[in-house]
Amino acid sequence: MNAIDIVTLTVNPALDKSTHFKGLISEQKIRCDEPRFDAGGGGINVSKAISRLGGTSLAVYTSGGATGKILEDLVVKENIFSKAIPVQTWTRESFVAVDDHTNLQYRFGFSGGRIEASEVEAILKTIENQKAKYLVASGSLNEGLSSDFYQKVAQIAKKNNSKLIVDTSGEALSKIIEIGAYLIKPNVGELAKLVGVDNLEMDEVNHAAKQIIATGGAEIIVVSLGPQGAVLVTKDLYQYVPAPNVAKKSTVGAGDSMVGGITWALSENKSLEDVIRWGVACGSAATMNEGTQLFKREDAQRLFEWVSK
Ligand SMILES: Nc1ncnc2c1ncn2[C@@H]1O[C@H](COP(=O)(O)OP(=O)(O)OP(=O)(O)O)[C@@H](O)[C@H]1O
Ligand SMILES: [Mg+2]
Repeated sequence: MNAIDIVTLTVNPALDKSTHFKGLISEQKIRCDEPRFDAGGGGINVSKAISRLGGTSLAVYTSGGATGKILEDLVVKENIFSKAIPVQTWTRESFVAVDDHTNLQYRFGFSGGRIEASEVEAILKTIENQKAKYLVASGSLNEGLSSDFYQKVAQIAKKNNSKLIVDTSGEALSKIIEIGAYLIKPNVGELAKLVGVDNLEMDEVNHAAKQIIATGGAEIIVVSLGPQGAVLVTKDLYQYVPAPNVAKKSTVGAGDSMVGGITWALSENKSLEDVIRWGVACGSAATMNEGTQLFKREDAQRLFEWVSK
């Protein structure tokens, strides 16, 4: 058996670049402060979050070109085990810039480059060989990668008896609930799309989630509600945890931090009540930090105690 219980998968990682500037003016050169580089992308962020909480995971991700090389260096500096799958196209970049005049944050993202069929095979083979207890598939899919890619991941999870945790959106998420996952973490907008409505009121969330659970789409659904917190729904449980009031700096990585907290708490055999508390604590703690930085362990611990009162 594999010694690492948690494997995260990031097919479309990003080299995150963040900076500050003063005044957004078109046609003029905008001088930016020295950039900060971080390894980004759903699964990589989840692995980083798990590491902050003292847990261990293996981050499997694609890496291509010069940007991929920098990404690999950054991943190595994080305290996580990792396996980079080489791909032909360059790893995408993402850019976050804060205007110091207004304190507004601008987020630029690129779609990921094409992934070849042989590369898809290499990714799936790697995942299959790991035989994780928890397999976390997180983030968007690269352009050209078919929306049923995560279904293939789900089939591997079933075969390996891995508990599959998925955080994605759109068609990739709809396809996942056709086949079934252990846990999905849509935000309320993503949940609405899943059940085919434009939006959902707070008092409709439980019913919508239970509908998906009843048809075998997932065993556990955590619906995140941004500054309002999150709810955890199972066949016979509904638990709402309001988010603590924090001095918000940036919401980048809040969703990934939440998934990290949830996965770590599950792997530590915490009760589902505590699992959702850790999720909210880590998500909210992430908003206390600038740009692409995630959360500090002491903030997550303090917020966990606060939401447990
Ligand atoms: N403004 C905020 N104040 C406090 N906590 C927040 C705030 N925004 C997000 N959070 C915390 O982070 C969690 C996840 O946030 P959110 O619901 O925005 O996820 P998301 O839409 O998946 O985000 P992402 O853009 O990272 O994918 C929330 O449940 C909450 O605990
Ligand atoms: Mg999200």
